[in-house]
Amino acid sequence: MSDETISTPATNAPEAPSAPQTPERANSEPLAPPQVAAPQVATIATLGQHEGQSITLRGWLYNSRESGKLIFPIFRDGTGTVQGVAHVKSVSPETFAALKGLTQESSVIVTGKVRADKRAPGGYELDVENVQVIQRVPESDPYPITPKEHGVDFLMERRHLWIRSPRQSAILRIRAEIMRAAAEYFDNNGFIRTDPPILTPAACEGTSTLFPVDYFGDPAYLTQSGQLYIESTALALGKVYSFGPTFRAEKSKTRRHLTEFWMVEPEVAFLDLDGLMTLAENYISHIVQSVLKNRRSELEVIGRDISKLEAITPPFPRIRYDEAAKMLQQAHADGHLENPFEYGNDFGSPDETWLTQQFPKPIMVHRYPAAVKAFYMEPDPQDPTYALCVDVLAPEGYGEVIGGSQRVSSYELLNQRIEDHNLPKEAFQWYLDLRRYGSVPHSGFGMGIERIVAWICGLDHVRETIPFARTLHRIYP
Ligand code: 4AD
Ligand code: MG
Repeated sequence: MSDETISTPATNAPEAPSAPQTPERANSEPLAPPQVAAPQVATIATLGQHEGQSITLRGWLYNSRESGKLIFPIFRDGTGTVQGVAHVKSVSPETFAALKGLTQESSVIVTGKVRADKRAPGGYELDVENVQVIQRVPESDPYPITPKEHGVDFLMERRHLWIRSPRQSAILRIRAEIMRAAAEYFDNNGFIRTDPPILTPAACEGTSTLFPVDYFGDPAYLTQSGQLYIESTALALGKVYSFGPTFRAEKSKTRRHLTEFWMVEPEVAFLDLDGLMTLAENYISHIVQSVLKNRRSELEVIGRDISKLEAITPPFPRIRYDEAAKMLQQAHADGHLENPFEYGNDFGSPDETWLTQQFPKPIMVHRYPAAVKAFYMEPDPQDPTYALCVDVLAPEGYGEVIGGSQRVSSYELLNQRIEDHNLPKEAFQWYLDLRRYGSVPHSGFGMGIERIVAWICGLDHVRETIPFARTLHRIYP
């Protein structure tokens, strides 16, 4: 009864430009007949749906060029940029005055008619009809990041503003798609998301990179990986994954290392190393193909070579560590690598860089010598000096994006490993329980989101892959 008395005038009324709206709402079909509607609020990314119509954009002035009676303001709204055209005779004196000398990053509400223009970057221009300035950035305190070149330190110090640049915002949009697709694959394939704790009593990936925390007087650490915990949820639920921030007190200052990064980790009961490699190649391919499908224009904005990404489909080459070591030794002999590769070591950055440049797809290097790998990795029954592990190395010199393995399933062996690695026994009793009660072969991997973003976007450094990078020398802003 009362349902019928509730009228919904808002949905029938013309949309006022100032009404709070989400972009989704703004992109939907017009809610009122065009002839009575005020200009519809649109986004720059969807201008193609409004060709020939007057629409309203809400955003900021990115840049502007003036020549006498003409002003060419470039607006941005978070979804893209569009160039406007305002002629002194085509707009009101107030609008022309508002645009003239308007300062960079002033916030505006702009109405204009969408016109297709093949030469325009997004394919459209805006014939400006009206401009309302929300906040004018004063000349006395101008926006510090001009469209000219700045040094990276200058930009990182102003990261909270730098993310407004078309390139940086395109990267963040691609990152979001990568994270969406990363979860989507598991959600669509029977995995249950289980979130491990961030505060932990013990190390997972070696004690040298632990961040200590004072836990009410007891020592605790920020998690290096959720692996140990999701091994337990995998034995409870079968196929699981976790997705969250992880921490490494990395003293190394490289283009691949952050102290805080996001890791997505699947863990699967009854899965062996071969099955894990199949999962990894399907997973990475799904993520790359999703970005190509849903964020192609952003890839174009940042100038990524798209054909290189189109090649990323399963299967990926599977190479034994020993084979890779031989290739590296040969590369050194041939003068391609400065330093000789010493058999038995983990690969250095230059080694990974050279190796991955030899293949158009990610390569899966498996069966490293057990001695250089983590305590929890299952030895190869064919030869226990090797571990049943895999590192996936991304092409074009990007290097390791995934590390994973089959896990030790024997109680006795795991107990021995914990002893050999001088790990605190009490802290690992619960982990040993997983081998006491219904132990099964199981496998999993961890994929660093920032490494994947760096590769997919073709970036030199992981600091541009996350809104606010945490590195050895930076925790501001
Ligand atoms: O190879 P890692 O150390 O493996 C583990 O942590 C396992 N416990 C994961 C598992 O089997 N569930 O780290 C996994 C991935 C690396 O391949 C890399 O992509 C990323 O995490 N990573 C980092 N990314 C940015 N900065 C760092 N300091 C990183 N350390 C690792
Ligand atoms: Mg690793």
